[in-house]
Amino acid sequence: MEFFIDTGDLNEIKEAYSWGLIDGVTTNPSLVAKAGVDQKTLIKEISQIVDGPISAEVISTQAEGMLAEAYDLAKIHDNVVIKLPMTKDGMIACNELSRNNINTNITLIFSANQALLAAKNGATYVSPFIGRLDDIGQTGMQLISEIKDIFDNYAFTTKILAASIRHVDHVKTSALIGSDVATIPYKVLAQLFNHPLTDSGLKKFLEDHAKSMK
Ligand code: G3P
Repeated sequence: MEFFIDTGDLNEIKEAYSWGLIDGVTTNPSLVAKAGVDQKTLIKEISQIVDGPISAEVISTQAEGMLAEAYDLAKIHDNVVIKLPMTKDGMIACNELSRNNINTNITLIFSANQALLAAKNGATYVSPFIGRLDDIGQTGMQLISEIKDIFDNYAFTTKILAASIRHVDHVKTSALIGSDVATIPYKVLAQLFNHPLTDSGLKKFLEDHAKSMK
């Protein structure tokens, strides 16, 4: 399973990359706004830290504008993946980009049928938003499971990128279902290391070692 970090914060990216866990990065307009720099500068800087797929999202809502933005963003680095919304225009843009061998990530996926449409249009990744479904009382993980079954049924090569991950159990369940990728916020990535028995066990080992040295 690949891990992407879901952030526009360069310090978070650098630190998580140093842990050896990061295969790629996802951003979105909210994360870019939080970073406080323009998208192209940010994506260029990320590409100098991480050697892996970096998702950059278009802002246009019409296919023509999406494509113009996409070709511009794709020039930044070979690792740039164009993030497009799950709309009719997003699908038109996805189809053209796929035919031109530009990688795509279809975002704001909330149903298995939306993921099916993206796969049929040649998307490289689909991003089901787990946490936002949980927020409205649905079960985000059920969606990952349905998409996995559909993609397996037809041997689609589109990768499932579990997004909107809010806690460590989302990561575990995504892995159990067989999601190809999870894009994880820094805070959740850091929490993956933790277990209270690891902490208390290490404390005891160090205390016993100190006693043996007296
Ligand atoms: O990058 C898209 C996604 O991960 C957003 O997550 O927490 O804003 O629902 P969230």
